[in-house]
Amino acid sequence: MSGRHILWNGAPVPFRAGETVASALTRAGVLCFGQAPQGQARALFCGIGQCQNCLVRFDGRLTEACLLPCHDGMALAEREVQQ
Ligand code: FES
Repeated sequence: MSGRHILWNGAPVPFRAGETVASALTRAGVLCFGQAPQGQARALFCGIGQCQNCLVRFDGRLTEACLLPCHDGMALAEREVQQ
């Protein structure tokens, strides 16, 4: 494996310089970042940090993927379903 990658649920996803996590995931075909309690997919929506629809788990906390810059080797995971 060459180039820079983030890890999405343990799987490598390449990214470009200056790219956000939401952009890299979407470009790689990841269109669901988690599920709402009613089962709807959560993913990129507003792209400007306002809707919270793109929250992912990073470094033990939830953060907006559309605002989070990619760094090589950073590990991210889906947001857990909250009942
Ligand atoms: S897509 Fe709306 S906060 Fe990220």
